[in-house]
Amino acid sequence: MTQSTSSPRIAILGAGPSGLAQLRAFESARRAGRPIPEIVCFEKQSDLGGMWNYTWRTGLDEHGEPVHGSMYRYLWSNGPKECLEFADYSFEEHFGRPIPSYPPRAVLHDYILGRLERSDARKYIRFNHAVRWVEYSEDTGRFTVTVMNHDDRRLESEEFDYVVTATGHFSTPNVPHFPGVETFPGRVLHAHDFRDAVEFAGKRVLLIGSSYSAEDIGSQCYKYGAARVLISYRSAPTGYDWPDRFDEVPLLQRIDGKTAHFADGTSEDVDAIVMCTGYQHHFPFLPDELGLRTRNRLYPRGMYKGVVSLANPKLLFLGMQDQYFTFNMFDAQAWFAREVIAGTVALPDADAQAADVDAWFERECALDGHEQEIDFQAAYIRDLLSFSDYPEFHVERQGELFKQWHDDKQADIMGYRNRSYRSTLTGTLAPALHEPWLDVLDDSLEYFLANNLTRGKMQESRVLTRESDDRPRTPAPHAHSAQRARGIASGVAGNSPRK
Ligand SMILES: Cc1cc2nc3c(=O)[nH]c(=O)nc-3n(C[C@H](O)[C@H](O)[C@H](O)COP(=O)(O)OP(=O)(O)OC[C@H]3O[C@@H](n4cnc5c(N)ncnc54)[C@H](O)[C@@H]3O)c2cc1C
Ligand SMILES: NC(=O)c1ccc[n+]([C@@H]2O[C@H](COP(=O)([O-])OP(=O)(O)OC[C@H]3O[C@@H](n4cnc5c(N)ncnc54)[C@H](OP(=O)(O)O)[C@@H]3O)[C@@H](O)[C@H]2O)c1
Repeated sequence: MTQSTSSPRIAILGAGPSGLAQLRAFESARRAGRPIPEIVCFEKQSDLGGMWNYTWRTGLDEHGEPVHGSMYRYLWSNGPKECLEFADYSFEEHFGRPIPSYPPRAVLHDYILGRLERSDARKYIRFNHAVRWVEYSEDTGRFTVTVMNHDDRRLESEEFDYVVTATGHFSTPNVPHFPGVETFPGRVLHAHDFRDAVEFAGKRVLLIGSSYSAEDIGSQCYKYGAARVLISYRSAPTGYDWPDRFDEVPLLQRIDGKTAHFADGTSEDVDAIVMCTGYQHHFPFLPDELGLRTRNRLYPRGMYKGVVSLANPKLLFLGMQDQYFTFNMFDAQAWFAREVIAGTVALPDADAQAADVDAWFERECALDGHEQEIDFQAAYIRDLLSFSDYPEFHVERQGELFKQWHDDKQADIMGYRNRSYRSTLTGTLAPALHEPWLDVLDDSLEYFLANNLTRGKMQESRVLTRESDDRPRTPAPHAHSAQRARGIASGVAGNSPRK
């Protein structure tokens, strides 16, 4: 990378896991003695973590910006943490102990923050800065990025050589219309605005959609006492063996009063409707020629290696794919982006880039089933890893864990979060959750760590004597969470029984 007067200026849009991956990628180059560019990260929220920075707000935020967060209370990871582990910062390093495979949101948030706080990268982030517009000038070869500085309440513009867009794609809801919904006498909301399942205790809840949001919000509603949960699918049912009070029905056709009518001619009265109908890739700050037009898929077109815009090679995107892999895939992309910006990865000409995109896209179109999808995303990540020095994390082995996860879900949708997997970084098998997920109503970090860190220690010693191929490490615990855990381990608030 070139520095001093010729040092490029980089704008990173968003400080969620993807934007933070980009900051960390530059930080690791700096630590290796490489010069790094001048970096500014614009984040519209008042803190980092993106989707993982929970907010109770819906609609507009305190500045009148659209609320970014789609996460809700009681959200637990829906995939094993062993499949999202940062290659350069294991869970064991952060917590000082093995923890169970499916942590609640606050625990993952703590982990994300932990890696960043061990670097000097927070200084690059301008919080409460909402990106309004990005414009490229052919004359100067630079972008003008215009942001609303909500701290000073003024619009500001600055020039940059590269723009890394890491603004996520699970925030702008896709909301279909169903005849009669306008006169439905109960709550109608999109999953983006769902916050607390307790609101639906004793209620009959209809969920539209049959993907992750539908299955997880349905599970939450069940767990916290909904009287009835109905999943209405368009293409196919989830097919899980749902418990009593739970059913799957074909697509909603119309609503009369409280009565929902479905495509198979059946009908049922419901009290609330939650549209779990997915999200739109939405870039209101990009001109048409620079935006991405895609649905949620594994290989959206328009980006070389899923990162570099075909419309402008100085515009990069992170995290725009549908996701089996998350945090470590964002890292692989960010490390690749860093090398593109540094010029150590030379981009082929436009035709070759487009041909590469087409080849991956066609490969995606031919996929049949979840195992091939997982292998495809692992192969995509492996390809990215070949361009940078991002540490090895055994992506194919993580792919096998995802296949196990899929089978475990299939076998027991309400119990799969009780399962344990082995870290591909440390070799440690995660301890079991302290009590069945369905019975844990307190999803706080304090409750989870107090019940699982101390127990994890005992469990680890049992596991190590039983499992000969473990390669345990006992790294120093991350100060904040470990101290908090020690402090509260002795006196934990009780967890009330499930209704
Ligand atoms: C309900 C839900 C549950 C999920 N659960 C899991 C899970 O269990 N495990 C998992 O691995 N993944 C999960 N995900 C996927 C999740 O999206 C990723 O883990 C991750 O948050 C994506 O990171 P990101 O940085 O790409 O996007 P985000 O986390 O969405 O972060 C984008 C950032 O950009 C900022 N931003 C947006 N627009 C602007 C603007 N105009 N100006 C300035 N800043 C802006 C936002 O404020 C935000 O901080 C879940 C997603 C959802 C919606
Ligand atoms: N940690 C967690 O537990 C958790 C919880 C929720 C979400 N998430 C994450 O959030 C992300 C988004 O998941 P998502 O489920 O919201 O979106 P998604 O995976 O994109 O699925 C969208 C769903 O909406 C349906 N749909 C779209 N338009 C429709 C219409 N007009 N009528 C009926 N159905 C329609 C789709 O049906 P078709 O199949 O017919 O297209 C699909 O079932 C995922 O990455 C997921 O992992 C995680």
